[in-house]
Amino acid sequence: MPYNRQVYYDAAKTQLEPNIFFHSLALEACMSGLYDYLKSENKIGDLEPPKDDWTLAGLIHDIDYSAEFKSNHPNKTNEALEKYNLELPKSVDDIIKAHAPELTGVKPKTLAQWSIFCADSLTGLIVAVALVYPSRKLGDVKLSSVVKRFLKEPRFAAGTRRNEVSLCQQKDGLDIPLEKFIEICLLSMQSTAGEIGL
Ligand SMILES: [Fe+2]
Repeated sequence: MPYNRQVYYDAAKTQLEPNIFFHSLALEACMSGLYDYLKSENKIGDLEPPKDDWTLAGLIHDIDYSAEFKSNHPNKTNEALEKYNLELPKSVDDIIKAHAPELTGVKPKTLAQWSIFCADSLTGLIVAVALVYPSRKLGDVKLSSVVKRFLKEPRFAAGTRRNEVSLCQQKDGLDIPLEKFIEICLLSMQSTAGEIGL
């Protein structure tokens, strides 16, 4: 069956607080951008899930970070989706679980899992940088601003797990230089700025 993004989008929008919903759209965009970059570098091997799995994982990864499921996030993804008569392919759930290894025991192994793990908390820093611009527009954000805030101002957007984001450079993981990784995520989020209200 072809991937029907809209039904998952609607479920996430209904289930989540607006800020978590926008974060989910941001991570969906990052997953898309990272897939495209890795594909262009010929790094997407046969064992990687298809691109739709990457983006759906980004869109849905926090759906149980809400209401009655919150204390069991992210192990209640399927239960949260059941409310909307939706199911999640196991391949997508495997990606989602890797965004929070300390809660699931699933450590990132595939490139899709590394991508969600490294990008998850970077979205918040990029949004925070946009909000200190006079225009408050994501489209105006310069890569150099994000890199500077990331590297030189650890207390800025302190919720960003800089150590996890920096693992994008790990050779047996994504093997993407930090600045390139930030650039891919920034450009991806800028491409969907209208949807996330920035
Ligand atoms: Fe998240």
